[in-house]
Amino acid sequence: MRSYPCGVLNSAHIGETVVLAGWVHRRRDHGGVIFLDVRDRTGIVQVVYDPDAEESFQAADRVRSEYVLQMTGRVRRRQAGAENPNMATGEIEVLGAGLEVLNPSATPPFGLDEHSDAGEDVRLRYRYLDLRRPEMQERLRIRARAASAVRGYLEEQGYWEIETPTLSRPTPEGARDYLVPSRTHPGHFFALPQSPQIYKQLLMMSGMDRYYQIARCYRDEDLRHDRQPEFTQIDIEASFVSEQDVMDLAEGMIKRLFRAVKGVELGDFPVLTFDEAMGRYGSDKPDLRNPLELTDIGDLMAAVEFKVFRGPAQDPQGRVVALKAPGDSLSRKAIDDLTSFVGRYGAKGLAYIKVNELDAGTAGLQSPILKFLPDGIVRQVLERCAAVNGDIVFFGAGPASVVNDSMGALRVELGRLLGLTGEGFAPLWVVGWPLFEATADGGIDAVHHQFTRPTCNIEELLAAPLRARAAAYDLVLNGYEVGGGSLRIHTEAMQKAVFEAMGIAREGAVKFGFLLDALRYGCPPHGGIALGFDRLVMLLADAAAIRDVIAFPKTQSAACLMMAAPGEADERQLRELHIRLHGKAGDKATG
Ligand code: AMO
Ligand code: AMP
Repeated sequence: MRSYPCGVLNSAHIGETVVLAGWVHRRRDHGGVIFLDVRDRTGIVQVVYDPDAEESFQAADRVRSEYVLQMTGRVRRRQAGAENPNMATGEIEVLGAGLEVLNPSATPPFGLDEHSDAGEDVRLRYRYLDLRRPEMQERLRIRARAASAVRGYLEEQGYWEIETPTLSRPTPEGARDYLVPSRTHPGHFFALPQSPQIYKQLLMMSGMDRYYQIARCYRDEDLRHDRQPEFTQIDIEASFVSEQDVMDLAEGMIKRLFRAVKGVELGDFPVLTFDEAMGRYGSDKPDLRNPLELTDIGDLMAAVEFKVFRGPAQDPQGRVVALKAPGDSLSRKAIDDLTSFVGRYGAKGLAYIKVNELDAGTAGLQSPILKFLPDGIVRQVLERCAAVNGDIVFFGAGPASVVNDSMGALRVELGRLLGLTGEGFAPLWVVGWPLFEATADGGIDAVHHQFTRPTCNIEELLAAPLRARAAAYDLVLNGYEVGGGSLRIHTEAMQKAVFEAMGIAREGAVKFGFLLDALRYGCPPHGGIALGFDRLVMLLADAAAIRDVIAFPKTQSAACLMMAAPGEADERQLRELHIRLHGKAGDKATG
């Protein structure tokens, strides 16, 4: 139906008669000449209809935005001064000779040019129109190229793409499950996988050696700009590998991806331990483009009179840090705002010292806490942070978790506010994770998942579970966790010990009996990783949220506005599924 797509025409085609097809992006009437910007996936071309060609001119006069047209015409150079350097086809235009309307369009609910400021709700309701926008098409093009680069790389490395079920049993990755009722097994439910974790481990036990899958995962959890209830992982598992092997493989893949899709060369990824990351950044996923760092000053505060600092300094679970920034431009009001900001993370206050004139001693400093601290200590703090005139030093003191959360967030906020966070890409590995964390109710939970291999033996694990470290690694990029993985437990005894340490020995043996069984039949040592594909594409496409790089995403409340999903089921379906509703459908869920 067409000789060329719209966006590929250029001066090499001048003089050719072409057949084009596409959507009316814009229609302009310039003193009796009609200009149609015609759009398809490849770009936009200008087609001009002149009153001389009366029939097609009349037809062009009647078309409106988003009509689908087929056109014939001759490619010619644009008049001098009328070229558009911002358009790939900007040197030429097509002088229209024929025009057929293949399909008219109702007036779209929002404009489809790049500057469309339509609200997100209306864009999601008419997602098929939103996706016509060149910006959205570019994002999905990047997504497709990224998937292709990933496949190419992993195929080269000898990985097999193997699909795993999505009607399954719960896979514990820390979120709620999406359940699917079974018609054939009354009262029983499938769970949609939170990840293919158990299947990929079983595939290693099957001797598949190297597996990958671009896998859909489902997690019913609170949504944010980097989280969707269904999302895609690049899921990888391999046998007979070390932590370094898996990290090298994933690092090679990310480098290839950024080169292929963005033309960016990433250097070697730095490796930080979990303790270093928390120590320097208060976060296990620091954005290394931000130069600010936390400085521990607990030792200097252990003997001061100021209880706010001394208490946490003396408490083994406490932490006292300083965060220095070139922030002399921060007004009183800005500092008050930052104090409320850290308050949201549980901080009880935000002490600070403004360094006006270092050489002037205390007189050169401005701070609400100087009166509580000996001059000598203040001097040592400023020295340790290498503060200079014009700096402001913030302080956080309290339980280590609160200080890390609040001062880590303050670091990010100051980076943004003061324009310190650079451009580009800053990947890193975080290794040496704790295996477990204490839960609020005094229990023990896995930091990654319960199939992660500890670096200690069973006796050490059971003696002091919270001291155990994991053979686990996370990949972080610009402050996003873009991947995580580990070596896995490959013996029944260790898997049972981990269940026992978590206080779920009996439950684990029932729920994961098949896995414990499988571990008894010659399981190879194995490990792997999963990368958040949507997050990677978001970063590759400079998009603000992963829903911008997903063709049909869900809203904040995990719904699809376009199809009105989830929807009600009819009585008969429910009866077949052995389900009776409490209250009527549409009642707001609680809790
Ligand atoms: P994890 O739970 O860390 O590990 O998930 C791996 C990566 O998936 C991405 N991700 C998400 N992306 C969008 N929306 C979500 N709701 C979401 N949740 C996670 C993140 C994350 O780093 N089975 C293990 C991997 C392994 O051990 O091999 C797992 O799923 O980028
Ligand atoms: P206060 O004695 O509570 O009035 O606090 C004196 C100064 O210390 C104020 O600037 C508070 O914002 C600050 N401050 C209070 N609690 C903390 C804390 N936990 N961490 C850091 N600064 C604090």
